[in-house]
Amino acid sequence: MAAAAAVLREGGLVAFPTETVYGLGADALNATAVSNIYKAKGRPSNNPLIVHLHDVSEVDRVVSSWPPQARDLAERFWPGPLTMVLPRRPELPDVVTGGGDTVAVRIPLHPVALAFIAAAGVPVVGPSANRSSTLSPTRAEHVLHSLANRIDMVLDAGPCTGGVESTVLDLVSSPPRVLRPGLVTPHEIAAVIGPVSSPTLQFAKLDGPVRSPGMLTRHYAPRAVLECVGEGLLSHVAELVGRGLKTGVVAFDADANGAPEGVLVIRMPREARAYAARLYAVLHDLDAAGVDRIVVEDPPATEEWLAVSDRLLRASARR
Ligand code: TXA
Ligand code: MG
Repeated sequence: MAAAAAVLREGGLVAFPTETVYGLGADALNATAVSNIYKAKGRPSNNPLIVHLHDVSEVDRVVSSWPPQARDLAERFWPGPLTMVLPRRPELPDVVTGGGDTVAVRIPLHPVALAFIAAAGVPVVGPSANRSSTLSPTRAEHVLHSLANRIDMVLDAGPCTGGVESTVLDLVSSPPRVLRPGLVTPHEIAAVIGPVSSPTLQFAKLDGPVRSPGMLTRHYAPRAVLECVGEGLLSHVAELVGRGLKTGVVAFDADANGAPEGVLVIRMPREARAYAARLYAVLHDLDAAGVDRIVVEDPPATEEWLAVSDRLLRASARR
């Protein structure tokens, strides 16, 4: 831990585990180190980073206003998978915020992350530790696979238990707005601070490819072409196999029984959190198995599935 903290303080890049996915850490107060994050990830410089803290008393180092709503949410959800967007302190390097006047902050719920950030003694920027637009890492080996020669160190604490990224909540707009659905649901947030606006999903039911690919930004995507299918899962899979495509299926329980021979079938739990915890690891595994196509059974269209549906929708966007 001391070695990792030293690397970070010297301006290096250290990947670290959180309860959601592995993050790629750099000293948030060191503009050069932060720019190196963008280079390592191949990330567009206008996409701002989340600043990770180990204690709520550190908030003042990066945030210039701490409204009662933020205090109440922090009390309820921190440490945990909620990121809050708030007015930034002017001293914070512009590279952290993409030049904007807000900053995203969270305290992760992971003992290794908390010990690492505390040992570093500085706020730590932490985008997911993967090349931009690809699958997020839920294991140290995923980090190495994506970024091996571009970073200085990985703290390996085994698989992440959450599996999808934090909820990003904009507290600067009124009413507060969920910018990215995550493990904390809009309903849970509203129970603390009242009404919030949140994205709705027109989940693309697939007869063919995604209906309006122009609407989606490709992100969180495996190498293989991914599509989500409701009705007609098995006949669609049979058609792909008939075209000679190596195909993986991600389906609930017995729904893929009867899939053609040679198809890799992954059976997923019907409970949203358990599903989220496995999703990226399953997609990493299917990529590693060399499939051409991944067919995912549509998740239910309810709020608890919002984060999973959002990631699948973006993963299915056309290149
Ligand atoms: O669970 C997580 O949030 C993980 C772990 C490592 O903490 N981190 C993560 O970071 O997912 P990243 O960089 O992959 O995603 C950060 C998201 C992006 O969608 C970014 O646009 C948004 O947060 N974001 C960051 N700062 C923002 C700001 N000031 N205003 C609005 N959105 C912001
Ligand atoms: Mg990311």
